[in-house]
Amino acid sequence: MTETSDSGTQQRIARPRRYLMCRPSQFDVTYEINAWMHSDVGVDRELALRQWENLRQAYLSLGHRVDVIEGEPGLPDMVFAANAGTVIGGVAVAARFLRPERQGEEAPYTEWFRSQFQSVVVPEFVNEGEGDYLWTGSKLLAASGFRTDPRAHDELATALGVEVVALELTSPYFYHLDTALAVLADDRIAYLPEAFSDASQAVLRRMYPDAVIATLADAQWFGLNATSDGLHVVVAEQAVTFQQDLAAVGYIPVPVDVSEFRKAGGGIKCCTLELRS
Ligand code: ARG
Repeated sequence: MTETSDSGTQQRIARPRRYLMCRPSQFDVTYEINAWMHSDVGVDRELALRQWENLRQAYLSLGHRVDVIEGEPGLPDMVFAANAGTVIGGVAVAARFLRPERQGEEAPYTEWFRSQFQSVVVPEFVNEGEGDYLWTGSKLLAASGFRTDPRAHDELATALGVEVVALELTSPYFYHLDTALAVLADDRIAYLPEAFSDASQAVLRRMYPDAVIATLADAQWFGLNATSDGLHVVVAEQAVTFQQDLAAVGYIPVPVDVSEFRKAGGGIKCCTLELRS
């Protein structure tokens, strides 16, 4: 069923989604591969499991389908399913991780893709899936700077038959595109300008003059690491100003607290891979 809202300046339409999530039974911070991770800060795995389950329930209550893959021993970041690949039009392009600590995730995720999709592409260059590739409904926004190799942009464009817009990330705290930019609806986005190079900021300003601009404080709570069905935006509970700004333009914020995952540098979107048939 589609739900609509015209409470803001625009009419918003919800479309049911299919997501993949990975149960955080092995979640931990045992190495440091981004600016958020400190291996001397312990994680509360029980709390992480509860927060993850709340996120899954939020999706189910919005009418979305959630497939679950189990976490594997020795892969504490496997919960961040967004990094596993990019799936558009029933074609799954698997990830290739930059850091050896995460490369063990490639096999279980690729095997899972093969069980679900006829077309699975294993690319040559490093790409961290939907961490660095965000589909707007017409274009693939593709980042580099920290993880994904810019040469992987063309590789994905060809594999998926889509147009790619290359963007460069510059802040170590916003090292994946999905920490700095959220797709709210077809060709509608929110982002943190200062996470991008000057040239990329100019591209985003030109392409998305009506974008919602996030505050640094909200982005630091991973407010932009959100998922949207076109109407409901599942967003970090702590990103309060961002929620108000979303509501003001007709979206319905659905706040969820996933703060335990912030210790690993992740949030809601990182825990969620969209599967587009
Ligand atoms: N610790 C993980 C890493 O550094 C966090 C990944 C977050 N995922 C994301 N889609 N931004 O790789």
